[in-house]
Amino acid sequence: MNGQKNWEDFYTKNNRFHLEPHPFFPSVVNVFKAHGVVSVLDLGCGSGRHLIPLAENGFDVQGLDFSPAAVDTAQKWLQEKNLPGRASIADIHQEIKAFSDASFDGVFAVDSLSYQSTTEFIETLSQINRLLRTGGLLFLVVPSKLAPKQEYFKQFHFNEEALKLALQDTFKILEMRLDQDNHFSVIGQEIPS
Ligand SMILES: C[S@@+](CC[C@H](N)C(=O)[O-])C[C@H]1O[C@@H](n2cnc3c(N)ncnc32)[C@H](O)[C@@H]1O
Repeated sequence: MNGQKNWEDFYTKNNRFHLEPHPFFPSVVNVFKAHGVVSVLDLGCGSGRHLIPLAENGFDVQGLDFSPAAVDTAQKWLQEKNLPGRASIADIHQEIKAFSDASFDGVFAVDSLSYQSTTEFIETLSQINRLLRTGGLLFLVVPSKLAPKQEYFKQFHFNEEALKLALQDTFKILEMRLDQDNHFSVIGQEIPS
């Protein structure tokens, strides 16, 4: 089970599935603020667990996800809290090319880029680099080889060396640590091309 239909089924059943942001969220916010990040694009925003606290922290947020049910939930959550920001329905890998160069200060991609091949992953990192302004930041979360395999969604699991190799041309790693689920959590800074 993989792909857009499966995520749509998942969010139709589970609605606002995650209520809390990633456990490293507070420290990520501090680093983003210290680097002057204001606008943030959340790729694969799901039902909005990062859009909400990012908007509450004063970031100018935009999310996208290919599950209409997830986007609907995220959008309603923002409205319910009377927060600015928006979420839209789109496939990351198609939509990402449509963003102008240097149009965001920061990007979140929390467990949303590991459903593709490493070649596609590297291409997506290069697109994120392009749409970030000089010195912009990426918060990236991807499963390590230690993370349990999901039953319904096939994901690529990284070892540290492979992840560093994938990032080396486009992002300088400012922080890289394993979270409680054994997913690599990386703050990367755009390397000007
Ligand atoms: C594990 S969930 C994480 C959601 C959210 N980032 C979070 O931290 O709660 C993965 C999300 O990525 C979305 N996704 C996966 N592949 C995608 C793609 N190619 N385009 C858009 N969204 C995608 C799924 O619909 C799902 O919402």
